[in-house]
Amino acid sequence: MTTPEHFFAPDRYNAGEFIIRSYEPGEGALMNAATRASYDHLKTFMPWARPDQTDEEAEQIVRRMHAEYLRAENFTLGVFSPDEKEVWGGSGFHLREGGLETKNAEIGMWIAGDKAGKGLGTKVLRALIQWAFTEWPWLRLSWRCDPRNAASRRVAEKAGLRLEGTLRSHSLSPTGERRDTACYAILKEEWTMADRLARVQPIDPVRGTLSQGMMRTRPPTSNLDR
Ligand SMILES: CC(C)(COP(=O)(O)OP(=O)(O)OC[C@H]1O[C@@H](n2cnc3c(N)ncnc32)[C@H](O)[C@@H]1OP(=O)(O)O)[C@@H](O)C(=O)NCCC(=O)NCCS
Repeated sequence: MTTPEHFFAPDRYNAGEFIIRSYEPGEGALMNAATRASYDHLKTFMPWARPDQTDEEAEQIVRRMHAEYLRAENFTLGVFSPDEKEVWGGSGFHLREGGLETKNAEIGMWIAGDKAGKGLGTKVLRALIQWAFTEWPWLRLSWRCDPRNAASRRVAEKAGLRLEGTLRSHSLSPTGERRDTACYAILKEEWTMADRLARVQPIDPVRGTLSQGMMRTRPPTSNLDR
């Protein structure tokens, strides 16, 4: 059984072009610089985005996220530049479909305004899926978005997630209007099949190039209860 008491979350995933890891205490200002500069890009779909958040407030948030990560309560992740001096986005494995024992995680994501629309979101989601199904206990990864969020839907589809349905009038937009929620997911067995096919023909069908995740040697699996 995977329980918070027995689970030590993996630390980081180095995708070469970027690093995905938990935020550390002291990185509030770094995160705040990215989210404040991205406010116009984030405000339509991200209810938490604020143009006037102080570094102290951001530091409190970073410390809470770090504590939750260590306590295996919620796994918020930053997407960092290779030298880890810039935050390029954020993501996470969130326990919104039950606790650790369900082996379900919901992935959320934002990409900084000056990095968005250049393929980074797709690469990050593919890297997260690779990491999730090799080093984490997850068996099911879900992704939820406003159906009007074309970039979000497209990123999910390109990474191999399947649309399972749309919840009608299910959530609130950042301006408080009721909105639908599109629900996507990928199961571990579906990914394994896609991964096997990718090994036979390691060409990214979208870009026609050898993809980073596919070139990567599969890391040794941990001894976690799966
Ligand atoms: C959604 C988001 C994470 C996608 O990341 P990204 O790096 O911008 O996405 P990519 O560059 O990998 O693009 C993926 C696909 O979406 C399309 N896309 C990107 N921006 C788009 C836009 N504004 N409108 C329509 N399609 C868009 C791209 O063309 C690409 O599809 P294609 O390869 O068929 O052309 C990012 O745009 C973002 O942070 N948005 C604001 C926050 C948000 O909405 N997060 C998701 C909440 S569920």
